[in-house]
Amino acid sequence: MPGSPSGSVDPLLPHPSQEPTIDTDRPRPAAVITGASAGFGVEFARRFADRGYDLVLVARRREPMDRLAVELGAAHGITAHVVPLDLAQPDAAATLLGHVDDLGLTVHALVNNAGFGTYGAFAEADPARIAQEISLNVTALTMLSRLFLPGLLATGDGVLVNVASTAAYQPGPYLAVYAATKAYVRSLTEAVWQETRGTGLKVLALAPGPTETEFFEAAGSEKFKVGQMLSVPAVVDVAFRALDRRDTPPSVVAGHRNKVTAVAAGFLPRRLTLAVAGRLTGE
Ligand SMILES: NC(=O)c1ccc[n+]([C@@H]2O[C@H](COP(=O)([O-])OP(=O)(O)OC[C@H]3O[C@@H](n4cnc5c(N)ncnc54)[C@H](OP(=O)(O)O)[C@@H]3O)[C@@H](O)[C@H]2O)c1
Repeated sequence: MPGSPSGSVDPLLPHPSQEPTIDTDRPRPAAVITGASAGFGVEFARRFADRGYDLVLVARRREPMDRLAVELGAAHGITAHVVPLDLAQPDAAATLLGHVDDLGLTVHALVNNAGFGTYGAFAEADPARIAQEISLNVTALTMLSRLFLPGLLATGDGVLVNVASTAAYQPGPYLAVYAATKAYVRSLTEAVWQETRGTGLKVLALAPGPTETEFFEAAGSEKFKVGQMLSVPAVVDVAFRALDRRDTPPSVVAGHRNKVTAVAAGFLPRRLTLAVAGRLTGE
C-alpha cells in the first residue's frame, strides 16, 4: 500500500507485520472514527493507524484529537484528519460525509463509537439531555451508517463497527434511555449485517461491558459499572478478533462473563432480569 510503512491494510488479513504484500495500486484506505478524543475511539484510531489506514477523527474536543493525529502520523506514516463536530446536531452525519468527500478519501472503515449514557430515574431525566442522547447514540449512528454504506460496499472489503453495549441485551432501569439506544444499535447493526452478507463488507456490533473511560463521569454515576471489567485495549482486541475472522459475527460481547450474562438475559423471564438489573443499578 502506498505510503504505508505497515504493508497490508485489510482487516481480514493477519496483522501487517505478518503480511508482507504491498498493493501499490490501491489508494490508502481511510477509517472514520467517531468519539476519537477519548476512550475506545482513541484505541480504535491506534489500531487502524497500525494497519496503515489514514484516519478521520471526529468528536467535539479538538485538542486531544490534534495530539493523537500528530502521534499516529509520526508513528505510522499515515495522515490523520481532525474534524471537530457535535454529532448530536441535526444533519451532523451529512456534514461529516461532506468533509470526508472534500478530503478526497476512500473510506474503507467506519467506527460509530461516539455515545454517552445518563444515570437516573426516567421520571426525573432532563428532556433536553434525553433528546441529545438519542440524537447521538441513535440518529447520528444510523445516518452515518446509511450515508457511508454505499462507499463501504463499493470498496469490496469495508468495515462497519457500531459500538453498542452489554446494556443492549436487557432493559436498564435507571439507565432506561441509554439501554434502549444500545438495544437499537445492536438491532440495526445485526440487520445490516444480514442485508450485506456476501458483499465483502464486515459489519459488527461491539458490546463492551463496563470499561474505565470517561464514560461514567459523563453519565454522572458509577452506579451502573455492573459486570466484568475489561481494559480498553482488551475490548478493542475483541472487536478486531471478530473482524479478522473470515465469517465475522453480527455482534460480539466483550468478556466471557459478560457474554454469559447477555445470553442468560435472552431466555430468563423478563420480570427476573428487570428485578436483578433494578437491584444492581438502583438508586
Ligand atoms: N466505557 C464503558 O463502560 C462502555 C460500556 C459499553 C459501551 N460503551 C460505549 O462506548 C462508546 C465510547 O464510549 P467511551 O467508553 O470511550 O466513553 P468516553 O471516554 O466518554 O468517550 C466518548 C467519546 O464520544 C465523544 N462524544 C460525546 N458526545 C459527542 C457528540 N455530541 N459529538 C461527537 N462526539 C461526541 C466524546 O468526545 P467529545 O466529548 O470530545 O465530544 C468521546 O470522544 C460509547 O458509545 C459508549 O456508549 C462504553
